[in-house]
Amino acid sequence: MNALENDIATILITKDEIDEIENRIAEQISEDYADKNLLLLCILKGSVVFFSDLMRKITLPMQIDFMKVTSYGKGSSSTGNVRILLDLHREDFSKVDVLIVEDIIDSGRTLSTLVEYLKMKGCRSVRTCTLLDKPARREVQFTPDYTGRLIPDEFVVGFGLDYAEKYRELPYVGILKPSVYTKNESMD
Ligand code: IMP
Ligand code: MG
Repeated sequence: MNALENDIATILITKDEIDEIENRIAEQISEDYADKNLLLLCILKGSVVFFSDLMRKITLPMQIDFMKVTSYGKGSSSTGNVRILLDLHREDFSKVDVLIVEDIIDSGRTLSTLVEYLKMKGCRSVRTCTLLDKPARREVQFTPDYTGRLIPDEFVVGFGLDYAEKYRELPYVGILKPSVYTKNESMD
């Protein structure tokens, strides 16, 4: 057992449940993008695990690409200023139907900013897919096109999601014990 598992209060979504969620979403995407030119876009780092599952479950030809963004202010809440750390370097924006794959939507700022950015770049279409959504935390109106699971306002880790760069490798989504981040928050 990974020693980090001692910091998990409860397992919110098991590996098997995530597998079913992914099957459902991948099937829907495979239907919806059958006549499109799919570019599956991974938002690093959090969505990498979900993304790598989806790309193998979607039964269509596709391209993949990667962006990295950050909201200022690390820790257990995001603050809203979105900055691009790794950008796309392509010349075929007008030919691709981009599907952004995100780990979790919180305030909604990351995805609403990215959608606007990719539309501005001239992408033929831009849609969004998220494994998790915390609607209670929304600060800007945003509705993803594909949602894995709505979750309550708890800080979760695992399956790619981190707290202070830890816990990404856990094979499920778990609620982090609040004692972990109240103890460390001042050090961020
Ligand atoms: P938004 O821009 O506020 O919607 O923030 C989305 C980003 O915040 C995600 O990509 C995560 O990096 C981070 N985030 C929000 N909630 C959580 C959480 O519960 N656990 C881990 N990361 C989170
Ligand atoms: Mg993230």
